[in-house]
Amino acid sequence: MKHLEDNFGRKFPYIRMSITEVCNFKCGYCLPNGYQADKSDNRKFLNIDEIRRLAKGFSELGVQKIRLTGGEPTVRKDFYEIVKILKNETSIKKIVITTNGYHLDQKAKLLIESGLDGINISIDSLDRETFKNITKHDRLPEILKGIEILQSLNFDNIKINAVLLNGVNSSKKDFDSWAEYIKINKVNFRYIELMQTGDNLDYFNRYHISSKIFKSYLNENKWIYQTLGQDAGPSLNYINPEYKGKFGIIAPYSKDFCKSCNRLRITSKGDLRLCLFGNTGISIRHLLQKDDQTEELKDLILGQMKFKKESHYLELGETGLTKNLSKTGG
Ligand code: 5AD
Ligand code: SF4
Repeated sequence: MKHLEDNFGRKFPYIRMSITEVCNFKCGYCLPNGYQADKSDNRKFLNIDEIRRLAKGFSELGVQKIRLTGGEPTVRKDFYEIVKILKNETSIKKIVITTNGYHLDQKAKLLIESGLDGINISIDSLDRETFKNITKHDRLPEILKGIEILQSLNFDNIKINAVLLNGVNSSKKDFDSWAEYIKINKVNFRYIELMQTGDNLDYFNRYHISSKIFKSYLNENKWIYQTLGQDAGPSLNYINPEYKGKFGIIAPYSKDFCKSCNRLRITSKGDLRLCLFGNTGISIRHLLQKDDQTEELKDLILGQMKFKKESHYLELGETGLTKNLSKTGG
């Protein structure tokens, strides 16, 4: 089997697939005015057959895991159907999602029943008011309730991501509240450094802060850095025997961040994106129209690998095509 590998020796067993740009939240760093359809682009989001063919093509190139993202992936009416089809009709081993968690209390059981293997939930703060200020939705309680339900049904591949925002959720008190939470909950909590995108320069300048402050907190509080296997991806993980959960840091501006890149991305309209940032990306949608196009699709994808760059060059302020992360799912 041919495998996906780039000119820098990186392998790609993992795809992040955005299945919609629509999101109902208004996170300050992403969609402060809410989702607005891009009028200059009337292409529809990938349909379920296109998604299935994509997954099949990638699985034949060694991909083992697909993350469904958005926008908010669960706003799609056929969301559970998509998970089921990927689980039952392709040989992808793990289907996971990234969600903002709205209505998670109502969705938890359905998510498990669909066969989902893991869930990443974005929760920027455990303080109800702060959460509301960032997302413009007072939905923290339903999300936390949803996590309780998942846990009570023995679903334990749960990660929580928060975007680290200076003066908003970056104090010792914030860190302590997460520590308290993961002491008794088996979840991986990770802070992500705020990234600059095409749309959010002012917000970025105001709220970006290096994750070093959280790193220092972890070091001072006896968290132990855990080295992981080669295809573990770019998060730094910390463990502490007295806690059920783990802490993590995703620091896209750190020097070696891109060295451990193990993922490719597909936008909700069928463009292959070699990096979250940058301008490289072609449409592969025309090869998702019939079941017998798989070989052609695989060749096109393989041929693109040589264009993957070594780094995102974010530190140079190059955000490329990325206006906000609702298109490519973070
Ligand atoms: N910088 C960092 N993280 C971001 N996310 C969205 N936009 C940004 C950004 N500009 C996060 C979301 C979610 C994940 C999909 O990406 O909060 O956790
Ligand atoms: Fe929606 Fe995620 Fe963007 Fe927030 S970060 S507005 S939840 S897509």
